Amino acid sequence: MTKIIDGKLIANKLKHDLKNEIIQLKQKYNKVPGLAVVQVGNVAASSVYVNAKTKSANEVGINVIDHHLDDNVTEDELINLIKKLNTHNEVDGILVQLPLPKHVDEQIILDTIHPNKDADGFHPLNVGKLSISSKNENNLLIPCTPLGCILMLKSLNLELKGKNAVVIGRSNIVGKPMVQLLLKESCTVTIAHSKTENLEKICSTADILVAAVGKPEIVKENWVKENAIVIDVGINRIQKKINGEIKNKLVGDVDFSQVKEKVFAISPVPGGVGPMTIACLLINTTTAFKNKISKNY
Ligand code: GUN
Repeated sequence: MTKIIDGKLIANKLKHDLKNEIIQLKQKYNKVPGLAVVQVGNVAASSVYVNAKTKSANEVGINVIDHHLDDNVTEDELINLIKKLNTHNEVDGILVQLPLPKHVDEQIILDTIHPNKDADGFHPLNVGKLSISSKNENNLLIPCTPLGCILMLKSLNLELKGKNAVVIGRSNIVGKPMVQLLLKESCTVTIAHSKTENLEKICSTADILVAAVGKPEIVKENWVKENAIVIDVGINRIQKKINGEIKNKLVGDVDFSQVKEKVFAISPVPGGVGPMTIACLLINTTTAFKNKISKNY
């Protein structure tokens, strides 16, 4: 029987443990972690994510400070807000929801977030630390989606060492950090992307396949090796004919109904990586809080 990796269940367990940890931190230090969430404009998907992140943070006892800015905010205004949050005593983590409007340079904004408060792990210093760190460092701020994927893989309690892992997608947010995390687990990692030749053949060699390419249901049954583990990072909103009616549907990068018949384990969309990304944001915020206490900055 194929194992369906239930991201919602794993994320709920992580949040439960985090809530208890935050209760203990509060008893000890009389403070709780604080997360500043910055959203610019009204991109519908961003609003869904930001609301889900805020709700989950509140549930575990993280104090959320919301900043919802107008679409036409200038780059300088956004930089000034982040600089204020960088020195704000009650803010331990800062999250700027992406994408930002075209007139704002995303990299400049991400570079402005203080690396110690970088709840997303996107700052170049944290990107570098991830690539040179050893396996056992637990104070790193790691991009939330790939961290969630690794925790899902670990939930299977299988040896990851030496496995052939293929990551489809080379984004800074998912693909590249995913490679680093798999390397840390001593996997042999191939990074493929939309321009890769023989993509299907390369994927079919994978013991672990992470699909983060942003193409709805591109990974078909003949792309996967028998008994592989498949993590689907895609979140694609498509229209599909169901019972003669056109309906909106959320699908991953993997053709779930085909692929699930062949593999050992697979994460669904929705209910897979999505909830894990949110749980990992809360973990990072708490890590930033604990780092501040232990390093006294
Ligand atoms: N937009 C899509 N994914 C993410 C994410 O993980 N973090 C932020 N800040 N924005 C996103």
